[in-house]
Amino acid sequence: MNYSYNSGFKIQNISFKLEEKVVCGLTGNNGSGKTTLLRLLVGLLKPKSGNIKIFNNILTRNKKELWEIRESIGFLFQNPDDQLFAPTIEEDISFGPRNLKLDEEEVKVRVDWALDAVNLSEFRTYSPFNLSWGQKKRAALAGLLAMKPKLLILDEPFANLDFTSIYNHLVILEKLRKENEITIFFTSHNLFFVEHWAKKMLFLDNGRILFDGKPHEGLRNSDVKQLLGSYDDILTLIKNR
Ligand SMILES: Nc1ncnc2c1ncn2[C@@H]1O[C@H](COP(=O)(O)OP(=O)(O)OP(=O)(O)O)[C@@H](O)[C@H]1O
Ligand SMILES: [Mg+2]
Repeated sequence: MNYSYNSGFKIQNISFKLEEKVVCGLTGNNGSGKTTLLRLLVGLLKPKSGNIKIFNNILTRNKKELWEIRESIGFLFQNPDDQLFAPTIEEDISFGPRNLKLDEEEVKVRVDWALDAVNLSEFRTYSPFNLSWGQKKRAALAGLLAMKPKLLILDEPFANLDFTSIYNHLVILEKLRKENEITIFFTSHNLFFVEHWAKKMLFLDNGRILFDGKPHEGLRNSDVKQLLGSYDDILTLIKNR
């Protein structure tokens, strides 16, 4: 699959498979194309050539089909301000389940459950504008959880979150993985999650896949290591100042 922006940046010859029910971590430096790849996967961008299959259906731009496929995919935007739109977070979280045409009682059950899962029950009537950045990210995740998707595509789900929020998110994501057998594809600059949470790692460099395999092997790959840099380099700089 290939894609290019007018700016000239290209996603080139990307080809990979995601196994169902696994956690896959996508990493790579700023501007390497991670968010672009995720936007392609959820149909927000259309490949210039090649195609993408989700649950054995080719992702098309046909609106009806795209909507059906999207119902089973939850996409967490890197920036929660791009995701939250309703006057209150409870309305925001209700939007998806209402679109699934669930009855109001079930919508309420899902919204209460999702708010509780991300620890935001007491903020339910708040405007997204009045939440902290981390709270917004948690509210955006709650909106996805309420849809009970089969595939979660998460752009930087842990960035800017405190340890308690990360812990709570992992509790709920793991619970969903066990009970609903969901597949998770996430991006992160934090290699801790790629190493310990993901079973598969993809490393992007300038729009190409440089590594596709087991995280512990990827993180030892010399090309990957060189591109990633390390705290050691930063520490040396600080110590020698
Ligand atoms: N809408 C756009 N139009 C033109 N170029 C874009 C657009 N969005 C992103 N780009 C370019 O595509 C490249 C990849 O951007 P992308 O956001 O996918 O990177 P990323 O790996 O997600 O980076 P980060 O780690 O900072 O989130 C960048 O060079 C960026 O300037
Ligand atoms: Mg990004």
